[in-house]
Amino acid sequence: MAAARKALPSAPNEAFGYGDPRGRIELRRNLADYLARARGVRADPERILVCSGYVQALNLLSDALRVQGATTMAVEEFGYNLHWDVIRSRGLDPVPVPVDQYGVRSDLLVGQAALLTPAHQMPTGVPLAPDRRAAAVEWAREADALLIEDDYDGEFRYDRQQVGALQALDPERVVYTGTASKSLAPGLRLAWMVLPEAMMEPVLEAKRTTDLLSATLDQLILAEFIASGHYDRHVRRSRLHYRRRRDKLVELLAVRAPGVKVAGISAGLHVLLDVPGQALEMVDRAARQGLGIAALDRYRFVPAPNDRQAIIVGYGTPPDHAYTGALDLLCQVLAV
Ligand SMILES: Cc1ncc(COP(=O)(O)O)c(C=O)c1O
Repeated sequence: MAAARKALPSAPNEAFGYGDPRGRIELRRNLADYLARARGVRADPERILVCSGYVQALNLLSDALRVQGATTMAVEEFGYNLHWDVIRSRGLDPVPVPVDQYGVRSDLLVGQAALLTPAHQMPTGVPLAPDRRAAAVEWAREADALLIEDDYDGEFRYDRQQVGALQALDPERVVYTGTASKSLAPGLRLAWMVLPEAMMEPVLEAKRTTDLLSATLDQLILAEFIASGHYDRHVRRSRLHYRRRRDKLVELLAVRAPGVKVAGISAGLHVLLDVPGQALEMVDRAARQGLGIAALDRYRFVPAPNDRQAIIVGYGTPPDHAYTGALDLLCQVLAV
């Protein structure tokens, strides 16, 4: 609110006209500084494009790749249906690549691009192992392909200092994408890309013919929020908050549902739990009591309901007053 009160009255006149399709320079500058500091991204404000959520980033990148002749994008075998639908809707073929306890199998990447969640695989919760990170970049160089790094929750690591962005290994081969959806709120629809030189023109053309540029006032408010130091403070506070929530969840499950195993690193806003029963039945039971959890199978490219029985629990959304009650319900549902 304070950022809006400060940013709006001081907005220059030209901020109300058509502007640079990359977005407001104030925000691009502040993002470049923040991303370098917080995520180790090699970010030049000239190479940043602000867009409407990660979903738009993926739309624009897919469009740009198709224009350049791409046909296929490798995706992690676990992920979001929505993202695979976006890729298909832009005329590319998403091809699933296996994921194990070290992250995606970088030795099996195919096509002209690969979409990865290296910091914290969504939803299995493992980070991409150092040799796999290097191998992914090597593959991109050899195959003349592009890596898309979806850094959706990279700021939220609790067990150690977060691992820096993959993009730093080769900024001409890796597009870095970040979003305000986890750090602030999904309704803001604000995300950003740091683009290799070769992708600037085709992505800008895709942006121009999609919506010309993203809403400038929201950008000015976020720019002010970052410049004032409030964004850093907010992320620090949120990190502590989510970490406490996760710890509480893990502690309670150990006592009340000892058959459940927590998978993945201590990070992010969701956790994957291996369960000692049929995941789908547990999800149904939870839904009947008003608790929203999902079976891992829902996030699988090729469904295999009898394979790994695991559920995904997002612990970021319940309001504080409802969290303890939600955990209690969760324990009841998972204790078999
Ligand atoms: C894997 C993953 N990527 C990206 C996003 C962000 O998407 P958007 O910026 O479109 O809200 C999310 C959701 O927050 C996510 O879980």
